[in-house]
Amino acid sequence: MINIIQSWWNKNKAQKLPVPTLSKDNIPRHVAIIMDGNGRWANRRGLPRIVGHQTGMKAVKRAALAADEIGIEYLTMYAFSTENWKRPKDEVDFLMRLPEEFLAMELEELIEKNVRIQMMGHPEELPSHTIAAMEEAMRRTENNTGLVLNFALNYGSRREIKETFKEAAEALASGALTPADITEEWIGEHLYHTALPDPDLLIRTGGELRLSNFMLWQLAYSELWFTDLYWPEFGRDQLAQAVAEYQRRTRRYGGLS
Ligand code: IPE
Ligand code: IPE
Ligand code: MG
Repeated sequence: MINIIQSWWNKNKAQKLPVPTLSKDNIPRHVAIIMDGNGRWANRRGLPRIVGHQTGMKAVKRAALAADEIGIEYLTMYAFSTENWKRPKDEVDFLMRLPEEFLAMELEELIEKNVRIQMMGHPEELPSHTIAAMEEAMRRTENNTGLVLNFALNYGSRREIKETFKEAAEALASGALTPADITEEWIGEHLYHTALPDPDLLIRTGGELRLSNFMLWQLAYSELWFTDLYWPEFGRDQLAQAVAEYQRRTRRYGGLS
């Protein structure tokens, strides 16, 4: 019993500690997170998978507030992939309710914190209630100048790249572009989210060491950080730990340091 109280106390105390020795001039501008492990978190407790998703929402809020506090400018959260439609309908339906639930609970506080909400992915296949909630949040935060909180929702990187190919093919066919115009910059500017810089740091929770069709183009030179912790267990300390590790890395981009 004493141990339980002690560990609870340590955990809560730790949550309130100042961000550990992060250098202020080397904060990653854009952090992207693959929020994985909700189902396994729930299974381990003998709970239905959806309880893991529900609990994971609290971690989204913790991560956003912590990112803001650390001084990260853009936080992209992988919330639903183009492949996640393969899951049982009940689970998909539940996941599609989460954005509106999250925003109903958190939007006011996010607005107070000057957070701007954005989305990348295909809105046209999302249920109308999901897209309505996202559109309202984007509209109400469009003039905010703080943290950009970008939700990847119905997002798949290969589809994103394929659509950029099609756009290029059409522009070539119509004569609007010549092959020489198709540069890396042109491609980067024609992916979904042109206003975001490439992620400096990618975090994946849940123990899997893969990208699962996430930002394949944009992650070319991102630093990768993996943790076995499940997404519902993620919080400020883990984000600070990932950023601290990022600050110890040397980014060479193929050159010499
Ligand atoms: C991540 O958790 C959330 C989504 C993919 C929507 P999972 O649902 O993938 O959880 P695991 O990986 O099965 O534990
Ligand atoms: C990646 O997780 C997608 C999201 C976190 C939204 P998955 O659980 O779908 O990935 P795989 O299937 O294990 O690769
Ligand atoms: Mg998973």
